[in-house]
Formats: sequence, C-alpha cells, structure tokens
Amino acid sequence: MDVIICKNDTEVGAYAAAKIAKVARQVGSQVTIGVATGSSPLRTYQALAAMVAAGQLDLSQGSAFALDEYVGLPFGHPQTYHEVIRKTVTEPLGLDPARVHCPNGFAEDLRQACADYEAAIKQAGGVDIQILGLGSNGHIGFNEPTSSLNSRTRIKTLTEQTRKDNQRFFASLDEVPRHCLTQGLGTIMAARHVVLVANGKNKAAAVKSVIEGPITAMFPGSVLQMHQWATIIIDEAAATELELADYYRQMYDNLPDWQRVMLPTGDVG
Ligand code: F6R
Repeated sequence: MDVIICKNDTEVGAYAAAKIAKVARQVGSQVTIGVATGSSPLRTYQALAAMVAAGQLDLSQGSAFALDEYVGLPFGHPQTYHEVIRKTVTEPLGLDPARVHCPNGFAEDLRQACADYEAAIKQAGGVDIQILGLGSNGHIGFNEPTSSLNSRTRIKTLTEQTRKDNQRFFASLDEVPRHCLTQGLGTIMAARHVVLVANGKNKAAAVKSVIEGPITAMFPGSVLQMHQWATIIIDEAAATELELADYYRQMYDNLPDWQRVMLPTGDVG
C-alpha cells in the first residue's frame, strides 16, 4: 500500500489524476476506469478534465463503471449516481456515454441487475484503475461495516451514519434513500489498481483504520491492505491520526522517479 500525504485537497486531486493518467497511458485508449461519486473525488475529476481539455489525455475510447447507485429515487433525479456521474465524470472527461455504466437501481429485478453489472464488468475485461472515496465509517463503495470481504455487487442497506453524511445532498434526512446497489469488496479488489482519496479531519479515524488498523469487516476499506496496487492519497487533515505518517512522507520523498507520478504541470510528484 502506498500512502501519499498532500498539503490540501487540490494537491490530492492532482496526484490522484496523475496516477490515473499514468495507468490510462500504460493500458492504452481502451482503459476501464472505476468511478466513485461523493465530494472526495471531485478535485480528481477536475484535474483529469483539465488534462483532457489540454490534449494531454484522451478517454474518448475508454469505459467507466460507477461503484454504486441509490435504490428508491426516480430515474433522472439529480442525486441519482447515474446523473451525478454524467455531470461530474462522463461529460467533463469526454467519455462516451454508451460506455459509462452504473448499477441499475431502477430495475424491477434488482438481483438480476446486480448479476448483469458483474457480467458487464467482466465483459469489459475488468477495471484497470478504481477511484475510491472513504465513508466516515470506513465504507468503500456502499459496503457498510460487516460487509463480506469477498462480496460482489448486491443490494445493501445504508447505515444511519451514511444517510446522515449524505443528507447534505438532499433537502432532508427523510429524502435520503435507505437502500442501494453497490459493487462488493470482492468486485473492488479485482480492479488492477485502486486509488483512494480522502480529505478532512472527519475522515482521519477512517483513514487510520484503513491503513493501520486490522483487516476487518467492521472497517471495510481495510480490505485494501490485501490489494497489491493500492494507493491512498490524503490531505494533512485526514492524516492526523496516522501513527507512521512521517514514515509515509519519508518513503514517498525517497521513491525513485519511475515509481512517482507525473503531475499535470510536467513535474514529477
Ligand atoms: C460513492 C461511494 C462512497 C463515497 C463515500 C465518501 O460512490 O461509493 O463510498 O466515496 O461515502 O463520500 P464523500 O466523498 O462525499 O465524503
């Protein structure tokens, strides 16, 4: 697991975008990116969009798979992840909407929709690089505490903590859905690379549990300790509870250039 501690959320976005662009260039034009919603990856998407606009990155032949979708909102509701991904990812990154997928939380048969989603990921050849945020309770995707570490895409019930955390996107807590479809932890772990981004003091405890805690379903993100190519990119505030923060800084400062990422400025980060 690589841990990169950045000054602020803008720098987190720049490093994450640089890492994603590096993988995308290695894989080629048909790269498949796993995308998260929520606030954490917005700077990353902005940095990627800037690279696309500057002609430094072309994702027009790529594919994307969203992590999750609410169940219970009407199709077209602005807070459906289908809509959020369209506005924050598909359009700014110049992806072809036909190759951007979300779990179908509007399906009559939700279990079938989950199986279809797993099949679609498989058919696309798997995810090359998965972008993740982190819930304040340690969830990734909507894999809430006690999720099976081996789970695949399925229906989950959101915890009250997650509903409260996401209330800011809705007029009231009552409007926040109680259910969702989410890629499982096993699905996420099958991605060839993962990049988790987290900002702010309210993520510090969850970040600590993911990086330095025991691997446990109580903090689902801790499963990433078992991933061969996981990069955790966080700001100073999210790093405050890390016991080995200085070690991560030293480790990154002394990496050889080939292991670093090329920032959009052309600098090696
Ligand atoms: C979103 C998702 C969630 C969020 C997490 C953090 O698709 O899967 O795991 O990444 O809830 O949300 P923010 O970034 O809004 O704090």
